[in-house]
Amino acid sequence: MHRMTTISVFGLGQVGLPTAVCFAKKGYRVIGIDEDTRKLEMIARGHAPFFEPHLAEYLKRAISSDAFSVTNDSSSNAQSDLAFISVGTASKEGGSIDLKCVEDAATSIGRSLQSTHVPQIVVVKSTVTPGTARNVVRPILERESGRTSQSGLSLCSNPEFLREGMAIRDVEVPDKIVIGSDDSLAIRRLEEFYKDFHAKNLPPVVRTTHENAELTKYANNAFLATKVSFINCVANIAERVPFADVDVVAKALGLDSRIGPQFLKAGLGWGGPCLTKDLDALRVFSKASGYSPELIEAVINTNAGQWRSAVQLIKNTLGTLRDKRISVLGLAFKAETDDMRGSISVPLITELLAAGATVTAYDPAATDNAKVIFGDRITYSCNPMLCVNQSDCCIIATECDEFKAIPPSAFAERMRFPFVLDGRRIYDANQFLKIGIKFLATGLGSVPVVPGSSKDLH
Ligand code: UDX
Repeated sequence: MHRMTTISVFGLGQVGLPTAVCFAKKGYRVIGIDEDTRKLEMIARGHAPFFEPHLAEYLKRAISSDAFSVTNDSSSNAQSDLAFISVGTASKEGGSIDLKCVEDAATSIGRSLQSTHVPQIVVVKSTVTPGTARNVVRPILERESGRTSQSGLSLCSNPEFLREGMAIRDVEVPDKIVIGSDDSLAIRRLEEFYKDFHAKNLPPVVRTTHENAELTKYANNAFLATKVSFINCVANIAERVPFADVDVVAKALGLDSRIGPQFLKAGLGWGGPCLTKDLDALRVFSKASGYSPELIEAVINTNAGQWRSAVQLIKNTLGTLRDKRISVLGLAFKAETDDMRGSISVPLITELLAAGATVTAYDPAATDNAKVIFGDRITYSCNPMLCVNQSDCCIIATECDEFKAIPPSAFAERMRFPFVLDGRRIYDANQFLKIGIKFLATGLGSVPVVPGSSKDLH
C-alpha cells in the first residue's frame, strides 16, 4: 500500500482519533466516522473533544490539509482500502464487554460494501475478547456485504496498546504490532501498510491468529496491572517496616533485566477506563471458559483496597475527619489527561466526604470532568497553592509534574496543619521532614528516613 491509501476509522474516541490524525499526518486520506454529531462538529472545526498531548496540533493540521475528513455517513467507507474499527467496548453489569458498538460498526461497514468490489481489509482495533473477530465480526461483515475473503473482504485483528497522555507517541512509535487473521495475504498487506507508515521505525510484528491477537491485548493490560498491584502489595508491607522504602526496593527490583523498571511505581492504585474494564472482562471471560483466574482476581482486589490504606494513614494522624479540611492535588486517573473514568480520586474523595471532611481539589486538566461527578460537594481551586491553603492534610493523588515543582516550604507556609500524604511518591521525604512537615507516603516505612537511605539511588 502507498501514500494514496484511503483509510476509514470507525469511532473517534481516545484510540480512533489519535490513530486517524497520525495516519493523516503521514499523507494517507483518512475518513473518520462516528455517530456523535456534536463531536464531529468539534473535530471538523479542528477542536479536539478531549485532552491528549499533541492531539490538538495534529488535528488542526490534518483538518486544514484536507487529509482528514469526518462524517456520520458510514457509506463513505465504500472506497477505502482499510477500515479500522476503534469503537469503545464498555463494561456490562458483571464485567463482560458490550459488543454493541463493534457489531454496529461491522454492520455499517458490511452495508457500505454491498455495492462495491473494491478490496478492503477490516481491522479490529477495539479491545474484544478472544473469538469475537471470528464469531461475531466476520459473520456480520459477510452477511451485510454479501462478500467474503474470496471476494476481496478480509478481516484482521490488530489490538492497540495506546496509553492516555502518550497516545500520539504510541501510534507513531509503538513497541510492537500484533496482527491476527486466518488470511495470510491480509496479514501481509496490513504489514506492508505499517511498513510504509513506520518506515525505518517499524517495530517487531507478530503475525498470528485472531484469538492470539485478541488475548494478547488482555494479557498485556493484565500484566501491567499485576506489576502495579504487586508493587503496591510490597508497599503495604514496607509501610510497616522501620527504615523501609518501597521506592528503593522497586528501583533495585527493576534493575533485574528479567523484571524491568516500568510499572513498579507504588501509589494509590491503578485507575483509568482501560485496566479496570479489561481485567474485569478477562476475569469474566476466563470464568465462562471454565477457569477461575485467581491471580487476576487478586490483582483486582489488591487495587480495590489500595486507596483505603491512604485514608487509614490520614485517620491515624488526624483522628476523626469530621470538619477536617483535606486538599487533594490531582483528580484525573493519571497525569497528562483530563480523564476521570476509573480515577482513584473518586472513591478516595467520596470516602473523605463520608467521613465528614471538607475537600478542596486541584487538577491541571480534569476539573470540568470532575465537576460532573462531584458537583458542589467539593471546592475546586484554580492552582495548587490555593488548594492547599489552610488545609489539615494534602493528598497527592496524581503524579503531575506541576506538583513535583512545589517546594516543601510552600506547604508549611499555607497549611493549617502541615501534613502531606504522598500517594504517588513524587517527593523526597527528607525535604519535608527536615522542615518539620508531617510527611507520610505510600510504601514508606514507619521510621522517618535518614539522609542517604532513600532517594540516593534515583
Ligand atoms: C493502559 C495501558 O498502559 C495501555 O497499553 C492500554 O492500551 C490502555 O490501558 P492507560 O490506562 O492510559 O493505559 O494508563 P497507564 O499508563 O497504563 O496507567 C494506568 C494506571 O496505573 C494509572 O492510574 C497510573 O497512575 C497507574 N500506574 C501506572 C501506577 O500506579 N504505577 C505505575 O508504575 C504505572
